[in-house]
Amino acid sequence: MIRLHPSPKKFYIKTFGCQMNEYDSDKMADVLRACEGMEQTETPEDADVILFNTCSVREKAQEKVFSDLGRMRPLKEARPGLIIGVGGCVASQEGAAIVKRAPYVDVVFGPQTLHRLPQLIAARRESGRSQVDISFPEIEKFDHLPAAQTTAGSAFVSIMEGCSKFCSYCVVPYTRGDEVSRPFADVMREVECLVAQGVGEITLLGQNVNAYCGEMDDGDTVDLAFMLQAIAKLDGVQRLRYTTSHPKEMTQRLIDLYATLPKLASHLHLPVQSGSDRVLSAMKRGYTVLEYKSIIRKLRAARPDIVLTSDFIVGFPGETEQDFEATIRLIEEVGFDASFSFLYSPRPGTPAAQMPDEVPHEIKAARLKRLQDLVTLQAETLSTSLPGSVQRVLVESVSRKNTQELAGRMDNNRIVNFAGPPGMLGRFVDVKITTVWAYTMRGELVTK
Ligand code: SAH
Ligand code: SF4
Ligand code: F3S
Repeated sequence: MIRLHPSPKKFYIKTFGCQMNEYDSDKMADVLRACEGMEQTETPEDADVILFNTCSVREKAQEKVFSDLGRMRPLKEARPGLIIGVGGCVASQEGAAIVKRAPYVDVVFGPQTLHRLPQLIAARRESGRSQVDISFPEIEKFDHLPAAQTTAGSAFVSIMEGCSKFCSYCVVPYTRGDEVSRPFADVMREVECLVAQGVGEITLLGQNVNAYCGEMDDGDTVDLAFMLQAIAKLDGVQRLRYTTSHPKEMTQRLIDLYATLPKLASHLHLPVQSGSDRVLSAMKRGYTVLEYKSIIRKLRAARPDIVLTSDFIVGFPGETEQDFEATIRLIEEVGFDASFSFLYSPRPGTPAAQMPDEVPHEIKAARLKRLQDLVTLQAETLSTSLPGSVQRVLVESVSRKNTQELAGRMDNNRIVNFAGPPGMLGRFVDVKITTVWAYTMRGELVTK
């Protein structure tokens, strides 16, 4: 049989880390589809290009990258034409050292140079040498990315990159560079393009998204509150979210929107890290527990049913039993509904890595478990209050087992399963919550 069209080449992407990386992986896929006519595959064995989008926020995350990379090595030995690329935060931090440690890696690129992938791959093929480009050409990447294509009801839009906060334990400012905001008009153009494709929910993304300070065409700058109001004015936009926020940038203008902008979801992820002022100061977080609680009080005044989630680091160097008790107290007082909580992991090159730390691992592990159990208990308390209420949900998926079963996300970020036709995928509908189990919820479609 003569094949008229050779089948397109395939790429495989494995993503580690945060939502910024998820977003960047989507953009890598867009670039390879648009510039190279390639197709995405879920099996590395079928791929001509294998990309790892990496995370270095904790040691475990970083080591996982190298062990997973090692598993790609036999594929490369069997097919020398295969291209293996490493991007993201480990790439940014380690650069050429990655090729030293894993010589079968062909290209190394950073979060700000992913749009150059086609050129890097071509240069690797021409020169026969591994290529490394982990520079920070500021906001250039967005000018070189193809327009987003989507069929989903919800989409992410990155509005700022990097972090200039330099918390004493964190690698992100080193891997992602300084805070840089995209111009206001660029973001609006991307949002309008998504809304025209039927997207009803927009999540604005940034490492400290509420530090957004974008330029207008006339040279003035605008903040996140301005941006949210402008997007909410677009017909078709039904729900708005933003993440991750820093408590230091939680302005009154932003808080006020919870009273005046109903499209803003009743959920805020606001990482606090610790409930002890002593620890917060050693972490260089730039706020006190009292200041954090005052933000929460104002948010609740503006939007009484707002659901709050947070990040915690347990076992920061020198964390005493009293410090930890203060964190537990804060969790009870605020009533956090979910958390990303991890043991502190010393990161090379950060100031905290030099701090003395005498607390044994078992004690830290026990603290972490206690914290996580408490948050789970609080989440159950909220869940059990929901039956009988009607929730507006965005239908996110159709069950694989039964196409008449849908799953939707509520304003407060919880998922509910209910019966409904697959045609509702990507739409907003009202669902009455009927039953709650430990982690899942059932409901019934409310027909008007
Ligand atoms: N910019 C966001 C969070 C970015 S990193 C903020 O400041 O809130 C995501 C989370 O990883 C952090 O909130 C923190 O809880 C965790 N983290 C960062 N560095 C860490 C380290 N060295 N050890 C353990 N957890 C860490
Ligand atoms: Fe890391 Fe702090 Fe920046 Fe968050 S604000 S990314 S924790 S340095
Ligand atoms: Fe990890 Fe980089 Fe995100 S270190 S958490 S992938 S910013």
